[in-house]
Amino acid sequence: MGTIYVTDRDGLEHEIAAQEGENLMEILRDGGLPIEGICGGVCVCSTCHVYVAKDWITKSGTRDDDEQVMVEDSGSYQDSSRLACQIEFTPVLEGMRLTLAPEF
Ligand code: FES
Repeated sequence: MGTIYVTDRDGLEHEIAAQEGENLMEILRDGGLPIEGICGGVCVCSTCHVYVAKDWITKSGTRDDDEQVMVEDSGSYQDSSRLACQIEFTPVLEGMRLTLAPEF
């Protein structure tokens, strides 16, 4: 079990338990944060949009073409944008920090 740190849309930080092998959308939702994840994690809804903190961008991997299109179409794209469902929690992400994007 690991931990990630998440800033919500009101600017409050939450310490969330993270299970290896789960994706970050599941972890955020299970942690009680307002992430809809309405497509179930198959990269077609953008309701799991987050901004990864600068120090964690490289460790969390890169957007594939489908994810890139989705975040660019979200209306709130930033260079640090990711879809949480496309990031699997592994030990290398222990202590990761991210921020919830505005609601889609
Ligand atoms: S849950 Fe739908 S894109 Fe991530």
